[in-house]
Amino acid sequence: MPAIDYLRISLIDRCNFRCQYCMPEGADLAYALQQDWLTRAELRHLLRDVFIPLGFTRFRLTGGEPLLRPDIVEIVQDITALPATQDLAITTNAFLLAKRAQALWDAGLRRINISLDSLDPDTFGKIIGRPSVALWHQVWAGIQTAHQIGFSPLKLNVVVIPGVNDGEVLDLAALTRDRDWHVRFIEFMPIGNGDLFASQGWVASEILRQQIRDRWGLEAGSVRGNGPADVFKIPGAQGTVGFISQMSECFCDRCNRMRLSADGWLRPCLLNETGQINLRALLRDDVPMEALRDRVSELVFAKPEINFKMRESGTTGAYSRTMSQIGG
Ligand code: GTP
Ligand code: 5AD
Ligand code: SF4
Repeated sequence: MPAIDYLRISLIDRCNFRCQYCMPEGADLAYALQQDWLTRAELRHLLRDVFIPLGFTRFRLTGGEPLLRPDIVEIVQDITALPATQDLAITTNAFLLAKRAQALWDAGLRRINISLDSLDPDTFGKIIGRPSVALWHQVWAGIQTAHQIGFSPLKLNVVVIPGVNDGEVLDLAALTRDRDWHVRFIEFMPIGNGDLFASQGWVASEILRQQIRDRWGLEAGSVRGNGPADVFKIPGAQGTVGFISQMSECFCDRCNRMRLSADGWLRPCLLNETGQINLRALLRDDVPMEALRDRVSELVFAKPEINFKMRESGTTGAYSRTMSQIGG
């Protein structure tokens, strides 16, 4: 059983995109009230007095879209200033990255994962539900800016949807040949948009791996990270290709993470909320820190039994919350 030392912190459940696979237009998205978002001070307090004493040392800021959070730079500063922090990263759609990357770097952030589902501006616009060619260019500029500033490793996340972007796998993998970028292909999960999942299905990583292997060959690779990606490298390439295969090879048994939602719910698992704790309510009721620590510690202890078993549970039933609501 792995140590559970990685906390994914959602800073906001809203997003400026409407990715079809995540939060399609018209979906019934109940947003948390802004007054319920954990404040910067509450987050600092929780990390310093609850999570770090329990052994958490690796943190990721997610959303919705975390760069929409006005105090993101200050929050990054707070977390990088904690001596126990061994790793801090962010997952973003990069729409605001060109503007914010330097301030994030100055605050101590060193690595970023970016969603980039297509190299074709039209397809990209369709996927993100914002049919404007300019948006792809803005995201691309954000990626370039982050690269030039020196963020590393720089990872690009691609959710592969049959009939939508599965024809671009080789082009996306080719990005890693002359750039130190790390492209990860993610199996589409039945979360967020069950209808799209039902109509398009998903494609197994092994099929994509074979396509890349047939074209260029593929060897074992490695890149720093805390996630479940299996990492390979095109021979001679500067970057790597990774595969996140939660549908074909359930990795719940080696899950090392807990999730904190923007409104302060601590969840043991992406897909199973058993035992979740409302840390915001406890904090605002002035429950003593030791009691909070005990509650969290019990949930960490219980987590292996709670972990969702994607395969055993079947993968056809769609899960009604979106990644943005759970905390991507
Ligand atoms: P690093 O390896 O540390 O760079 O990060 P990561 O891969 O954990 O983070 P990222 O936010 O980029 O997540 C990539 C994708 O992995 C997500 O978009 C999800 O599709 C998937 N994923 C992340 N966490 C979980 C999880 O707990 N369960 C499942 N089933 N999928 C997850
Ligand atoms: N299947 C797989 N990945 C998803 N994400 C969001 N919804 C899904 C889904 N249904 C991923 C995005 C992004 C991260 C925040 O979550 O690609 O990288
Ligand atoms: Fe926003 Fe990310 Fe969801 Fe796309 S995947 S809608 S960028 S939260």
